[in-house]
Amino acid sequence: MNDSIIFKKLTKLSQDHIVSFHVPGHKNGNIYKKYKNHYLNNELLCFDVTEIQGTDNLHAPVGMIKNAQDRAAKFFKVEHTFFLINGTTAGNISALMAVANPNEKIIVQRDCHKSIMNGLILGGLIPVYITPEVSMKNNIPMGLKPESVEEAILKNPDAKAVVLTYPNYYGICSDVEKIANIVHKYEKILIIDEAHGSHFILSEDLPITSIEAGADIVIQSTHKTLSSFTQSSMLHMNGNRVDIDRLRFMLTMHQSSSPSYLLMASLDEARAIAQKDGKQLMKNLLEHIDDFHEKISYIEGVKIINKRFIGKYGVHDMDKTRLVIDMTDLGIRGIQLEELLRKNHHIQMEMSDINNIVAVCTIGNAGNDFKKLLIALKDIQRENKKSYKKIAMPPFLYTTPKMNITPREAVFRKKIEIDFEKSAGKISGEYIVPYPPGMPILCPGEEITEEMIVYIKYLKAMGINIIGSHDSRLKKINVIK
Ligand SMILES: Cc1ncc(COP(=O)(O)O)c(C=O)c1O
Repeated sequence: MNDSIIFKKLTKLSQDHIVSFHVPGHKNGNIYKKYKNHYLNNELLCFDVTEIQGTDNLHAPVGMIKNAQDRAAKFFKVEHTFFLINGTTAGNISALMAVANPNEKIIVQRDCHKSIMNGLILGGLIPVYITPEVSMKNNIPMGLKPESVEEAILKNPDAKAVVLTYPNYYGICSDVEKIANIVHKYEKILIIDEAHGSHFILSEDLPITSIEAGADIVIQSTHKTLSSFTQSSMLHMNGNRVDIDRLRFMLTMHQSSSPSYLLMASLDEARAIAQKDGKQLMKNLLEHIDDFHEKISYIEGVKIINKRFIGKYGVHDMDKTRLVIDMTDLGIRGIQLEELLRKNHHIQMEMSDINNIVAVCTIGNAGNDFKKLLIALKDIQRENKKSYKKIAMPPFLYTTPKMNITPREAVFRKKIEIDFEKSAGKISGEYIVPYPPGMPILCPGEEITEEMIVYIKYLKAMGINIIGSHDSRLKKINVIK
């Protein structure tokens, strides 16, 4: 076993065979033994404990959880690390509420995750949006220019903080170092949602981590791009611009009072693996990816987003571990390609949009995975060559809608249900979010436009899942009365 503190301690505790008159109710998995559910009748359940003598407390850590967090902080080169058992979602919400009071302004990258918007609602904060550059050709949001950040700060000198997503879902990175310098020049706080970047620390060939770039708070979904269990993340903090006691309070408020030890142990283990072998594993992964890029370049009609975008559209760097593949020149949309890979080749992508499929590659992938993907793409290309037809796409819609009332006000105001198709000009009472990637097109409090209705109808027709509205078919929408 690695130098993981929590698993080691829990293993030792389980060997004591303590008679349990405490929660959880499955009593070290005993109930599952009775029902012969061999998947749940598993050694792992001995680690599903609660706060008893020797297991410390996430909300006031002094023992093994504190030690594990400290070790993570050292590895990620930060002053403080907090384990999150409610995902980056809880970290984002807590970070926002730690740095601004109700009715204060926060500068937010528009293509942010819904959890940031929820943080604005819960905190009663006023968003000032900045829009990333968009590549119309590729139909995806790209980077955010440092000048756009400076402009927003100059126009809103009373804003408390700047909140950015780095990298975005497609692995695209803005110039976070330059942005951090600008934000700090104006004495603001920089919060980075680095949900997709916890692996950056593992290689010089990957983009700089926003911690290294100077951000004050960085939230990473360790479960996405390192190896912890789903729902486990880390929040890192540096410097003295943020009130750490207020941050601790917010984390306690937004996280369960029964934090899962499986999740915490897996965070500790993910750090231990990354620390022990992460650099070598990442080197191997990047070699497989380079090889994949080289081989895919010979397949006619298959495009892959690569470093040629650097220097354009606010793109400063790209995460090589994210593969964004486009076969629309062969008449295959992203959504279709994802389906073909799953149905005919047993390969599951992270997501697809109208044009692209997106693969998340991590140190958990084997070289063979890339070989299989390449063979599958070649097969699909061969079968579709016969019916070669270029498809026309509508441009990606990335405007920032007019915000008539704050998101919080919209959530608590009276609403009426109307036909979505007839809602242009009304103020939305709910979200409209294509998922994945989970970036809202419309937030509560914003004005619905005809252009949005057309675009959302198009997304639906293309098979993109739209969430956020009370009517999952989006025939109706709740608007402000
Ligand atoms: C950019 C971004 N931020 C935050 C989140 C939420 O992360 P978590 O699932 O760890 O709560 C996601 C999830 O997809 C995301 O893509």
